[in-house]
Parts: sequence; C-alpha cells; structure tokens
Amino acid sequence: MAETKWVMKDKRWSLHGMTALVTGGTRGIGHAIVEELAEFGATVHICARNQDDIDKCLEEWKSKGLNVTGSVCDLLCSDQRKRLMEIVGSIFHGKLNILVNNAATNITKKITDYTAEDISAIMGTNFESVYHLCQVAHPLLKDSGNGSIVFISSVAGLKALPVFSVYAASKGAMNQFTKNLALEWAKDNIRANAVAPGPVKTKLLECIVNSSEGNESINGVVSQTFVGRMGETKEISALVAFLCLPAASYITGQVICVDGGFTT
Ligand SMILES: NC(=O)c1ccc[n+]([C@@H]2O[C@H](COP(=O)([O-])OP(=O)(O)OC[C@H]3O[C@@H](n4cnc5c(N)ncnc54)[C@H](OP(=O)(O)O)[C@@H]3O)[C@@H](O)[C@H]2O)c1
Repeated sequence: MAETKWVMKDKRWSLHGMTALVTGGTRGIGHAIVEELAEFGATVHICARNQDDIDKCLEEWKSKGLNVTGSVCDLLCSDQRKRLMEIVGSIFHGKLNILVNNAATNITKKITDYTAEDISAIMGTNFESVYHLCQVAHPLLKDSGNGSIVFISSVAGLKALPVFSVYAASKGAMNQFTKNLALEWAKDNIRANAVAPGPVKTKLLECIVNSSEGNESINGVVSQTFVGRMGETKEISALVAFLCLPAASYITGQVICVDGGFTT
C-alpha cells in the first residue's frame, strides 16, 4: 500500500515521458531551465541563434546524462519560428507537453531616445515572436493531451523602472497574454503561467548594468529587495519546473514573481 502511494506521488512530481521546448536555452535563465526540466525527466529541445553555443551546451548535457537536442532559430523571423516547430514536431512525434518562452532582448534608454527600430527589435523578440510561437505550437501542445506554457516575464512588466519602458511594455503584454491564453486553451488541456524574475546575473543583465542609467536602475531594485541580493538562475528555474509538473495541474493564468520580495 505504501509503495502504491509512493508511485502515485512520484508521478505527480516527475516529468518523465514529457517533451519540452525551451527558447534561448544556451545561457542564463534558459540554461538553468533546460537542466531543471531534464533532471525531472523531460526530453528537451532548445533553440538560440548561435550554433557553437548550442553544440557546447549539448555536449555538456550529454556528459551529464540529460536528454537534450537543439537547433538554430532566430525567433525574430517568422519563417524560422515555423521551421523550429516543424523540427520539434518531427523529433517529438507531434506531441509537445511544455513550451517555455524564455528568449528575450533589451535596450535601455529614456522614453524620448527610443527609435522605431529599437521598439521593433524589443517588441518583436519579446512579444510578437512569443505570440506566434504559441500559435504554431498549439496543435502539438493540444495533441500531447497535457500542455503547459511558461512565459518568462519580468518584474519590469509589473512595476515601473527607469529606462525600461519598451521592455516593460513587452513583458506587460506577455502577462496579459498569459491570462487570455489560459482562458482560451483550458478546453484543450493547456495551462499557461508567467514567471516574473527580479534581477538575475546573466549576460542580459550585464549589458544593462554596463550603462550608468541601467546600473542605477538595477541598484535601485536590489536596494528595495527584502532579501538584499540578486536572484540566481536556479531560483527561477525551480518555479518553472514546478509549474510544468502534474502537481501544478490546477494552476493556470497566473503571473508569479520570483524577486526576493521586491514587488511586495
Ligand atoms: N537576467 C535578468 O535579470 C532577468 C530579469 C527578469 C527577467 N528576465 C528574463 O529572463 C529571460 C532570460 O534572460 P537571461 O537574462 O537569461 O538572458 P541571456 O543570458 O541574454 O540569454 C538569452 C538567451 O536567449 C537567446 N536569444 C536571444 N535572442 C534570441 C533570438 N532572437 N532568437 C533565438 N534566441 C535568442 C540567447 O542566445 P543567442 O544570443 O545565441 O540567440 C540566449 O540563449 C528573458 O525573457 C528575460 O527577459 C531576465
């Protein structure tokens, strides 16, 4: 009897037999998410723009015994997004359980200084491509019988920060899209949630703190964070993995902060 209970419990806390696509899995938060999902038993596919980075990551994961494949895709290009989903469909035999929309970009400027090109690059990468990727992933997620989408948002989408206006708009749009998608696709057994991290040391953050205005903005966030420090990539990936587990089957349409108390 105790053994039966353990098997049932084990299934609720396992991703064995599940398939996942993580965009931007070659570094930072995406890299940690890939490891976390694969360690829970999922088979994972990643994409990024740099083939060498993908190859290095796949080598590393193979040596750790993790089941990960990868292919190049610039998410800004509609054709490449469609091609990515064809590859995923073929590798995973038409069934995708988990889609983690992680890849994103940022350019920090004052509102008066943003160009039309800056706005297109940020909104295109962080919101339009994500919206389209969900559309093309829908048949695969539906056919899995148990789909979960996790959007990697940001506290910037919830609270106004200096020099982040366009990035903030892209993440604010993502937060609302999470709720609409959860509503429309619940009938297809697809859940959707967003995880909104505070500052985490990654290449994206490094680029921001290289400018004095960006640095000031991030220091301001950390100084208002209860735990008094930045987050670690593993502290973000833990929640992402939890949201994908069968144990989280009643959680959908939520935007959850992982921010050491900053937005409280
Ligand atoms: N770091 C933070 O403080 C922080 C805070 C809040 C939210 N976030 C969010 O967390 C997520 C991950 O950020 P991160 O800090 O880990 O960033 P990162 O270290 O810069 O990693 C970004 C990943 O996305 C890929 N990528 C970027 N643009 C792409 C494109 N057009 N097509 C395909 N892949 C692309 C990158 O690979 P290639 O360059 O080779 O394409 C890389 O694998 C983002 O959604 C970000 O907004 C980060």
